[in-house]
Amino acid sequence: MYAAIWVLLVVLVVAGWNSHRRSAILGAIPVVGYSAPLLSMITALQFVRNSQRLIDEGYRKYRGGLYRIRLLAHWIVVATDAQAIEDIRKAPPHVLSFGAAQDVFLQTIHTAGPEVVHDRSHVTWIRSELTRCNAARFDALREEMAVALDEQIPLSAGWKAYPVEEVVAHVVCQMSNRLFVGEPLCRNSEYLELAMSFANEFIRDVIIVKSCPEWLKPPVARLLGNARKCAKRVATHLRPVIEQRDAAKRTLDKASASIPDDALQWCLDNATGDARHPANLALRMLWINFGSLHSPTVTLVFALYHLASSPEYMRILREEVDGVFAHEGWSKAALGKMRKLDSFLKEVLRLNPPGIWAQQRLALQPFTFSNGQTIPAGTMLACPVLSLHRDEENYPDANEFRPWRHCESDEAHKNLFVTTKPDFMPFGHGADACPGRFFAAIQMKALLAHIVLTYDVRFEEGRRMPERRFVAGVLLPGKASVEFRQRA
Ligand code: HEM
Repeated sequence: MYAAIWVLLVVLVVAGWNSHRRSAILGAIPVVGYSAPLLSMITALQFVRNSQRLIDEGYRKYRGGLYRIRLLAHWIVVATDAQAIEDIRKAPPHVLSFGAAQDVFLQTIHTAGPEVVHDRSHVTWIRSELTRCNAARFDALREEMAVALDEQIPLSAGWKAYPVEEVVAHVVCQMSNRLFVGEPLCRNSEYLELAMSFANEFIRDVIIVKSCPEWLKPPVARLLGNARKCAKRVATHLRPVIEQRDAAKRTLDKASASIPDDALQWCLDNATGDARHPANLALRMLWINFGSLHSPTVTLVFALYHLASSPEYMRILREEVDGVFAHEGWSKAALGKMRKLDSFLKEVLRLNPPGIWAQQRLALQPFTFSNGQTIPAGTMLACPVLSLHRDEENYPDANEFRPWRHCESDEAHKNLFVTTKPDFMPFGHGADACPGRFFAAIQMKALLAHIVLTYDVRFEEGRRMPERRFVAGVLLPGKASVEFRQRA
């Protein structure tokens, strides 16, 4: 017991000392909250509970320049204006690195392992195959959406309440996994449960490992090992699928249409040696799920909360969706013609970006912004997404949810919601911006269009949109049930 207290004290003193040294190096950059060695940890704890309040305070005071906030494991320097955001976008990766920032934020080397960090084939697959989402993939996605929704929200003439977050998470996970691992695994409840719970298990490891000093991280990460434990269980599901696919491939012509078309097959075809091992492939499939589930789920939950609170939004979207599908039928191109749907989702993302940091970078070399401010090597950088989105200079009546503001003119509509700009950053900005955003657009539009066509939605009597929370830089929608019935 005493030994544990001593270890904790040493850890705190070392962390405090390191923070003090770095704070002295960053001296010229103004601070939000406390800057003194131990007091700054109070700000770090406040940030965990209410990140956005501190970010907004810095934005108000230092708009146009840089400011910094103490987080639990390090300082973060926040860039507030369009020019600084462009400076970051243009900086080459050997100066400001996205990958190195991820290693710090998620402790990826320790928590996910070198297999995921060094082999980025999943990003290549997302950027090429998933983004293209050809007609066959789109049809598969749509079929899976119908299967998942029929199961989660069966059609009924009377109103029935559903816990929206759980239902949407399940549907998004099943749809995505149709393109990640294919049938029948994408309908296997244990596999889906593992894919959905991975993020929580993984983040728990990240928080603990992050609070350890460098030398303690490898043994602590090994001891916890939740990502690997999860991958081991997923591997038991993947092994028979891989064996079956390998056996089928040996007997098939390569060009045969019956070769599955999903991320797993792509990895199998492109991986060699250890990377083909089921445990490694399982980790990669979980990693794709980690990137692809939370943000679309949160966005769709907020979209449904807005729909449930306004029959008018439902009426306008229904008119558009009905009209486009009547002429075009269901297709990716038809979704692309739904301007109001695009604008609605963009407005949801503007006011509810799932992550409140974007363009996270670690400075590998000293970096000077156009305005002359300099940060030293080793500095973590990020942009305050929601503060930028709620800036009146970027959007008039910025705090108001105005769902059609992005399609009111042809000029406004040039910026679809996948377009990243310094005043619209839920996906980040520049070469490292989210590679999954084109797929996310198709998936979210398809789901919302289907819901608008098929169901009526409303809040339970006396209920309204619940309060949301910002915890450690992540937006969590409040829990609420929404009532659904078959479209009257
Ligand atoms: C509403 C939906 C989504 C939002 C808001 C979102 C947001 C983001 C953001 C902010 C980043 C970091 C970029 C930066 O800081 O510069 C990111 C990275 C990433 N996203 Fe998304 N994302 C979404 C959907 C998806 C989907 C559906 C997938 C996969 C199918 C995906 C895969 C990834 C991956 C793999 C990365 C890391 C890229 C890398 O390592 O280079 N995301 N996303």
